[in-house]
Amino acid sequence: MLTLRSPAKLNLFLQIVNRREDGYHNLASLFQTIELHDTVHFALSKEDHLTCSVEDIPTDSSNLIFKAADLFRKKTGLRFGLNVRLEKNIPSQAGLGGGSSNAATTLWALNTLLDHPVEISELAAWSSEVGSDVPFFFSQGTAFCTGRGEKVQILDPLPPCTLWIVKPNEGLSTPDVYRRVDLKNLSACNLLQLANQFGAGYSTYFNDLEKAAFLVLPELKALKASLIECGFDTVLMTGSGSAFFCIGDGTPTLNLPFIQKTQFINRKADSWY
Ligand code: C5P
Repeated sequence: MLTLRSPAKLNLFLQIVNRREDGYHNLASLFQTIELHDTVHFALSKEDHLTCSVEDIPTDSSNLIFKAADLFRKKTGLRFGLNVRLEKNIPSQAGLGGGSSNAATTLWALNTLLDHPVEISELAAWSSEVGSDVPFFFSQGTAFCTGRGEKVQILDPLPPCTLWIVKPNEGLSTPDVYRRVDLKNLSACNLLQLANQFGAGYSTYFNDLEKAAFLVLPELKALKASLIECGFDTVLMTGSGSAFFCIGDGTPTLNLPFIQKTQFINRKADSWY
């Protein structure tokens, strides 16, 4: 059996560039992995089987863990079953990339359990078929991502940062939020330079999806205001929400179902997170 951590991600900034003919949006975003993680136990077996520590996660073939396993079988021609136990800590419908991270972790686990038949760069390239955010996890945890999120430019780790993740009861569906983006008010400057400034300690946090999320779930705007009142310098939604990250000297004194202190993490080149 192989046990791996499957970390959550944040979008420290997220710019929507335009809407594409295929319905996706081109974006430019600084992605960062954080210590908040699921724990996943993998074992090769006769048949595919998944159990999960929480009830609201599908354990059938719609789970991205099985989509990743199917992709691995299709690309390598190898035949195997996979037994998985998922200990879920990352909230879903939060913009924290939990499902995408689980998929990337599954590809890494299969490659390890099957004696490394595939180069990591190839696994990363394949993984965009499972979801736009999956290839990012094959970076070392800090990357500037473009296209629909799948074009990953690896960056050096950022300076250490402790932060709080906060999520209300209500989640958000990613397509619902993208549908509400105001396509008439997009800026299209090159943001790689902005990403590099984070490394030098000059951080500009923003998320073009935040306004769209406030249209889908108006209570989020009041939640953000309350979190700012808790004393944080930065309060920003991650991805398509509905989770926020809060940076600075504040303490989240609100009564919310998910509040957790965490920090940026990175992985070493030859090991998972
Ligand atoms: O790639 P993924 O399956 O995670 O995307 C889920 C949905 O989010 C897409 O079907 C699309 O509606 C929206 N999306 C988008 N532009 C992106 C990423 C996702 O419009 N760059």
